[in-house]
Amino acid sequence: MQIREKTSLITGGANGIGFLYAHELLRHDAKCVYIMDLDNGDGKEAVQKLEAEFGKGRARFFPCDVTNSEHFTDNFQAVIDTCGQLDILINNAGIMDDSRWDFMIDLNFKALVRGSLLAMDHMGKHNGGNGGTIVNVSSIVGLTPTPFFSIYSGTKHAVVGFSLGLRGSYEKTGVRVLVMCPGITKTPLITECSDKTLEFVQKEDLINGLEKSILQAPEKVASAMIDLIEMGENGAVWVAECNEPPYAIETPHYSAHRKPI
Ligand SMILES: NC(=O)c1ccc[n+]([C@@H]2O[C@H](COP(=O)([O-])OP(=O)(O)OC[C@H]3O[C@@H](n4cnc5c(N)ncnc54)[C@H](O)[C@@H]3O)[C@@H](O)[C@H]2O)c1
Repeated sequence: MQIREKTSLITGGANGIGFLYAHELLRHDAKCVYIMDLDNGDGKEAVQKLEAEFGKGRARFFPCDVTNSEHFTDNFQAVIDTCGQLDILINNAGIMDDSRWDFMIDLNFKALVRGSLLAMDHMGKHNGGNGGTIVNVSSIVGLTPTPFFSIYSGTKHAVVGFSLGLRGSYEKTGVRVLVMCPGITKTPLITECSDKTLEFVQKEDLINGLEKSILQAPEKVASAMIDLIEMGENGAVWVAECNEPPYAIETPHYSAHRKPI
């Protein structure tokens, strides 16, 4: 897919890796990026920065808590009314906070499902749309569980499972469904995570583990996202970790993992 002249919506795009997705899309000549994020000033600031670098009208902010279904649906429609046609949706908004697991499931999974369905309705050829691309942001812990954030990891596994199911409707919808799984990346989600575990988790092991880990630069994930959008086949699941180039993973049928009882 050519990014040039395409419109894209990024949830959670005011900060962290999401902001850099917006930056990279514009650097690759996207027509406009729409950022949906909490109403706390960061979104306005993000748009100011992007417009200063790429020109007026290339970025717009829609304040929205995407866990509020009515608000999300209305704002999604407002984005469509503004741009006419949306080509790319990146469902990126997420938190890693097992101490607020109920809300985290609403954000990391339910809001991502809602965003995907809204995008399918708009982009889907079955509904008169032109097709498009949905990228759902999971994590390496959406592929292999972690004892430190078991509920977060569960939400990210759900993202992979949902997305791989959705890819099967491509022939009818013309909407590619892609999954990005970043490794540990230097943003507040990681640097401020140690107080957000369940109480019985071994915090010392978490802190020691993080100290030994490579906290990759968020720019690496943003660059991998561009490659994924440009080159990823429908249903592609990519990992971007340890500051290295991204790679695709296979998702074999469970019977391929069969072992004797
Ligand atoms: N940082 C990592 O190591 C890492 C690794 C794997 C996956 N991820 C995933 O990448 C995504 C982005 O993470 P990040 O590290 O950039 O985090 P971040 O905390 O830096 O940014 C998250 C953004 O989401 C926004 N947000 C939070 N709640 C929201 C809500 N209810 N409605 C709308 N926006 C909301 C925040 O305001 C913020 O702008 C998340 O889905 C995260 O799970 C991050």
